[in-house]
Amino acid sequence: MHDKNLNEKINKAVQLIKSSDKIVIFTGAGISTNCGIPDFRGENGIYNMVKKKYNLPYPEAVFDISYFEHDPHPFYDLTKELFKSDIQPSLSHKFIAWLEEKGKTINVVTQNIDMLHTKAGSKNVIECHGTYLTAHCLKCGKKFEINSFEDKLKKGEIPLCICSGIIKPDVVFFGEMLPDKFYIAYHNPPEADLVIVMGSSLMVQPAAGFALMLANKINSMIINNEPTVYDKIFDLVVNMDIDEFSSAVWEKLKKNNKF
Ligand code: OAD
Repeated sequence: MHDKNLNEKINKAVQLIKSSDKIVIFTGAGISTNCGIPDFRGENGIYNMVKKKYNLPYPEAVFDISYFEHDPHPFYDLTKELFKSDIQPSLSHKFIAWLEEKGKTINVVTQNIDMLHTKAGSKNVIECHGTYLTAHCLKCGKKFEINSFEDKLKKGEIPLCICSGIIKPDVVFFGEMLPDKFYIAYHNPPEADLVIVMGSSLMVQPAAGFALMLANKINSMIINNEPTVYDKIFDLVVNMDIDEFSSAVWEKLKKNNKF
């Protein structure tokens, strides 16, 4: 635990959650690091790793559409690593699903492509950086479902369409549009009393802008194990491990019959 006044902050988080019926939860890679998936910008993050492993002009090139069209190998090699183990939701993913189960209206907007919110049971999830569940051919545009290309991804091979074009999973790359669902939510946000940011550096737009826009209007908190440049906007900032936070808040909420 990194933060001072932690007990006080946990109590404030509990109060904010208890008094809010409608909550938007915005998540980033930090909510999945305890599941074994590295984040992007942390010390052991993907960008430090790919910088050393592949000969990239800059680390983000691994997810840049122009670089992908020039050399797709780093992306498929990295994907093979992500598909290696059977990754399960963290305590925090489950906590979010539990809040919904208990009657809160929860809208999750995640930058993550690991599908763990859905796996944990959350129903209203916008995967604003796309998903591996579908893909399309970069040459003819044909659409594919994951079962038709997953084997290739697991082997680190590049799936090809019958037209010889590369089949690219529908994860959003730098230089690509986010899914329509995200822009609809951005321009017409779900009604909410509270926005909670969990495990994101808030460095990537337009996704981060969605959370910040809400944080400027309604009650807000951010839980991240290090400060972000936007902390001042939030009513409550908690710097600690996300699962330690969720576990502490969950324990306290469980003791309340009605919340
Ligand atoms: P980042 O790696 O930028 O930020 C993750 C944050 O989570 C960091 O500030 C970590 O300190 C924090 N963190 C890591 N593990 C944690 C833990 N167990 N508990 C609490 N905090 C923890 O990841 P994102 O903000 O998700 O986009 O990055 C946003 C986007 O940048 C990604 O969706 C991806 C990337 O480029 C694309 O590829 C388009």
